[in-house]
Amino acid sequence: MAIERTLSILKPDATRRNLTGKINALFEEAGLRIVAQKRIQLTEATAGQFYAVHKERPFYGSLVASMISAPVVVQVLEGENAVLAHRGVMGATDPKKAEPHTVRAQFAESIEANSVHGSDSLENAATEIAFFFAGTEILP
Ligand code: PPS
Repeated sequence: MAIERTLSILKPDATRRNLTGKINALFEEAGLRIVAQKRIQLTEATAGQFYAVHKERPFYGSLVASMISAPVVVQVLEGENAVLAHRGVMGATDPKKAEPHTVRAQFAESIEANSVHGSDSLENAATEIAFFFAGTEILP
């Protein structure tokens, strides 16, 4: 088993409803460790850059607007197969399709306000972690 790191974002719908502790309890129970964390207000420029891969998709503007509607918590989670483990606890993007035990099934409001973002590959995790954190901010 490989020890990996992944980027996790607790989205505005989660911070607005004071759900960050409940959601992180699920990640910690799954063996993931929070090794870096900060609560920040994304700007349109920063959120737009982060989601640039979706720029051509019809929901891009709405997703960016949603991500700047309240603070987010950006964090680095570390553990065995962290990328897949995190996505497993998150559940499917669309909460209607998510398994009942997952974060999105329990807490998400919609496919956009779906409470949490997680990197989808180890390669993207490295890029996304570096987008928000300096190496010195990550403390295993
Ligand atoms: S994923 O998680 O990347 O595999 O899923 P994907 O379907 O590619 O979705 C990427 C992000 O876009 C958001 N999304 C939407 N927002 C608004 N409306 C619609 N229809 C919609 N479909 C997808 C979704 O919340 C994903 O956000 P992140 O933060 O990457 O999980």
